[in-house]
Amino acid sequence: MLIHTPKDWALRESAATPETIYRNRRAFLKTLGLAGTAFAARDLLGATGGFPTKVNAAFRDPALKPTAYDHITSYNNFYEFGTSKEEPVVLANRGWKSEPWTVELAGLINAPQKLDVNDLVAKMGGVEQRVYRHRCVEAWSMVVPWDGFPLAKLVALADPKPEAKFLKMTTFLDPKSAPGQRERNLDYPYVEGLRLDEATNELAFIATGIYGKPIPNQNGAPLRLVTPWKYGFKGVKSIVKFEFVAKQPRGTWEVMQAREYGFYANVNPNVDHPRWTQASEKVIGGGLTRQRTLMFNGYEKQVAGLYQGMNLEKNY
Ligand code: MTE
Repeated sequence: MLIHTPKDWALRESAATPETIYRNRRAFLKTLGLAGTAFAARDLLGATGGFPTKVNAAFRDPALKPTAYDHITSYNNFYEFGTSKEEPVVLANRGWKSEPWTVELAGLINAPQKLDVNDLVAKMGGVEQRVYRHRCVEAWSMVVPWDGFPLAKLVALADPKPEAKFLKMTTFLDPKSAPGQRERNLDYPYVEGLRLDEATNELAFIATGIYGKPIPNQNGAPLRLVTPWKYGFKGVKSIVKFEFVAKQPRGTWEVMQAREYGFYANVNPNVDHPRWTQASEKVIGGGLTRQRTLMFNGYEKQVAGLYQGMNLEKNY
């Protein structure tokens, strides 16, 4: 398979949110009388979206200021729909259908099944909102109010056998609808994996919404992984299959460039990417602001125990 060398996704991001998209959305919100805070937008969007969300206060650090909805939904990495930040918002909304959507639970489990995403959400007991830091390996960051359910609940539904040690998650494959898959800008379908104890950590989350509204196509509709202590590329979008396996799966970026993108992908300011520093990050929506990157992206208390005794320089 022909694999193009990945674009240097290092620090080209000075481009920030494309002005036109940004302005169009602002204009739209203004007509609704919503040019105010992000939370005003969320309230209205939640009310009209038919998407009731309970805020889980245990996962809402008051010190975290959520990034504006406009930025979160127009500055995206979704290579199936282009390699720039601005293409996915257009190309993922041009004929690609994220509804209806079937999800498969498969592999070394007692309850293999295929079910509609809405039935899955119902089985998970609905959705809750959590505000998490979101740190891309490219050294930019946001704060996202995600709606969804804990991945641990999905693992419980699948009921893994003792031999299952890892969870492999796979994105859709539909080259007709996804121009990036036609161009083969990555090795598709996009795959990522977690150790089972990572998958059942309290932070691991499956997002089905943002700001109380169903998740837009460009952010990984109808469901995507969120592991806030890891770099964003772990957060596989538009998942069709959750497969429980005995052997450590190889993620798409690891296959592409193993020296640069490892299985663990834990946010670590002390281990640089071979081509740029990971000690600090650009704050999306924050103008020229850069901030210090935190160990495990600020979630050391919740996840450090998972990696005790491991060499994190080797296991990047
Ligand atoms: N999932 C799929 N299927 N395809 C992708 O290209 N990009 C990853 C991840 N999940 C990607 C993906 C990367 S590199 C990041 S940083 C996040 O999605 C970006 O998520 P966001 O656009 O919601 O910020």
